[in-house]
Amino acid sequence: MSDKAVVIKAQGGPEQLQLVEVDVGQPGPGEIRIRHAACGLNFIDVYQRNGTYALPLPATLGMEGAGVVEAVGEGVTHLKPGDRAAYASQPPGAYATARVMPAKCVLKLPDAISFETGAAMMLKGLTVQYLLRKTLPQGGLQSGDFVLFHAAAGGVGLIACQWARALGLQLIATAGSDEKCRLALENGATHAINYRTEDFAARVKDITSGRGVKVVYDSVGVDTWEGSLNCLAPFGLMASFGSASGAVPPVAIGTLAAKGSIYVTRPTLFTHIATHESTQAMGEDLFAMVASGQVKIHIDRRYALADVAQAHRDLEARQITGSAVLLP
Ligand SMILES: NC(=O)c1ccc[n+]([C@@H]2O[C@H](COP(=O)([O-])OP(=O)(O)OC[C@H]3O[C@@H](n4cnc5c(N)ncnc54)[C@H](OP(=O)(O)O)[C@@H]3O)[C@@H](O)[C@H]2O)c1
Repeated sequence: MSDKAVVIKAQGGPEQLQLVEVDVGQPGPGEIRIRHAACGLNFIDVYQRNGTYALPLPATLGMEGAGVVEAVGEGVTHLKPGDRAAYASQPPGAYATARVMPAKCVLKLPDAISFETGAAMMLKGLTVQYLLRKTLPQGGLQSGDFVLFHAAAGGVGLIACQWARALGLQLIATAGSDEKCRLALENGATHAINYRTEDFAARVKDITSGRGVKVVYDSVGVDTWEGSLNCLAPFGLMASFGSASGAVPPVAIGTLAAKGSIYVTRPTLFTHIATHESTQAMGEDLFAMVASGQVKIHIDRRYALADVAQAHRDLEARQITGSAVLLP
């Protein structure tokens, strides 16, 4: 069977994404070969395409997918040929009909979860898992606590709204349109702010009666950084986990004292899923949230793999809400 993958030879615009024929080959020790039923689309793919993150070239992009395991290499015991599976994983290479990849981050997909849902939720859902369960202020988060979550109508964001509701948190959402704000509220945010038309830091102070929030989860980056710091309660946590609007400039450490002895972290999913054991434990938590119906995965758009450049344009133009998948 002839296989195809989306390759970039140079980092740059969406026009760099080229669908080419590839020879997938056989899995080596610790690897599997998976045939994709669906591949995920994530903002990290944009950073890897445009050069925000350096990549050895040529490269096949894509960090998330779901499909059927075709072959397993020596030493792989948690998967076998014929298993339904899904993953979020390094290295990139998911924009493909099939691929060979390390097995450690590939999990068996429960029968109740479709391939499309699997491909739409692994990277984004595992991210929300480590943010809301493990990226916490001193003393943790209790039911009723306020958190601020930017870009809350996006792929990661809509999962976070629902998961926060399940935990009893008051999630203050920001989003770039009134329609997106409505979507965040429908998915469990208790308050929503259109940060293109309103001063979100002032609104957060109003909503919290001047106290501020215990955590800001900020994936927007440079555009929201300063305002986010101003939303924190004393000893609050700034979790900067992305930079869709551009990188945050270097921070003068004295700022953290001036803002109220605050904490700053810049986490990445890939530290959290560095081992099979941690990935499995986080995955089970995610699968349980989805199987129970507490978190629904919204697939806003489906694109043919060949139309991946359009998918990138739409993602960068803030046109997509929830998740999108690529169909090989
Ligand atoms: N560190 C980690 O472990 C980790 C893991 C997964 C994802 N992330 C990050 O989380 C964020 C969300 O990822 P996602 O894949 O679910 O994407 P997404 O949220 O569906 O899309 C990004 C959203 O960011 C907002 N945005 C604000 N300013 C923007 C700008 N100048 N250009 C483009 N978008 C802008 C837009 O929403 P509005 O129109 O509502 O502003 C846009 O829809 C990304 O920054 C990603 O890198 C980090």
